[in-house]
Amino acid sequence: MDVPQNTDGKEIFFHKKGKATPVRILDEKQIGSGMFGDTFEAQVLVGDKGRKFVIKKFKRRYNTTAAERAENAMKNYQAAKEAGLKVFTTYRLGEDGTSILMTNANSDDITCLSTLPNTVGDIKIKLTDESFESLTDGVFAEAKKAADANIDVYSDAYFLLVGKNSSKLDFVLGDLDNVTKEASKSPATLLSSNLINARLGLHDLFQKYAGNAALYWDRLYKKYGEATANSARNNKPSPLE
Ligand SMILES: Nc1ncnc2c1ncn2[C@@H]1O[C@H](COP(=O)(O)OP(=O)(O)O)[C@@H](O)[C@H]1O
Ligand SMILES: [Mg+2]
Repeated sequence: MDVPQNTDGKEIFFHKKGKATPVRILDEKQIGSGMFGDTFEAQVLVGDKGRKFVIKKFKRRYNTTAAERAENAMKNYQAAKEAGLKVFTTYRLGEDGTSILMTNANSDDITCLSTLPNTVGDIKIKLTDESFESLTDGVFAEAKKAADANIDVYSDAYFLLVGKNSSKLDFVLGDLDNVTKEASKSPATLLSSNLINARLGLHDLFQKYAGNAALYWDRLYKKYGEATANSARNNKPSPLE
């Protein structure tokens, strides 16, 4: 990991809904490695503009090929985007069919964290009442919005976006491998699993990165309880029906 790889300035086309943009990859540095792929931060040229993107290269796993996995992630992205979920602005399939070019969530202001091992270093954040409230409200609302659109969201989809110079915390659905449209499941069924997975995702992220997580476990469970109770109330048939 973390070894810059010389790619000889190779040019690859990345596609989105029929549009193909040539991207010259100048340099790649591996930033993640997981079950389904390896992730790289890439210095690229789009036309004559230098940009940084993240490229995820999928791997064959179990019975599915790398191309099937990449296609699946693209399909999931499109459904999530249509549902108005918080996904990256850029998400394009490479011409090799097995890689995806996406927005780089790391910047001068923001560090992107997931529960997988990554190369951003040993980061500890301090939750504040304000950041805890806004993050958990946002994540549970996202879980509900997804369920309303028949989308199943696993816990590993949530990436934390941590302000480098502030205590602000945000999130993005950054790993779309397990963000799946499930037309045959009801929104009510999906809501209960999405809320559990949202709690699990937050729990794992807090456990790994929040130095003061212990102060917030009760509140996380309380928030989850409230989100579940609200959804049960909303799903009850109205007395007028
Ligand atoms: N767009 C991105 N911007 C910044 N970091 C990212 C981005 N996508 C992935 N990462 C980092 O790379 C790691 C692996 O990505 P992920 O999509 O979760 O892979 P996997 O499918 O192996 O679980 C994550 O831990 C995350 O920190
Ligand atoms: Mg992941």
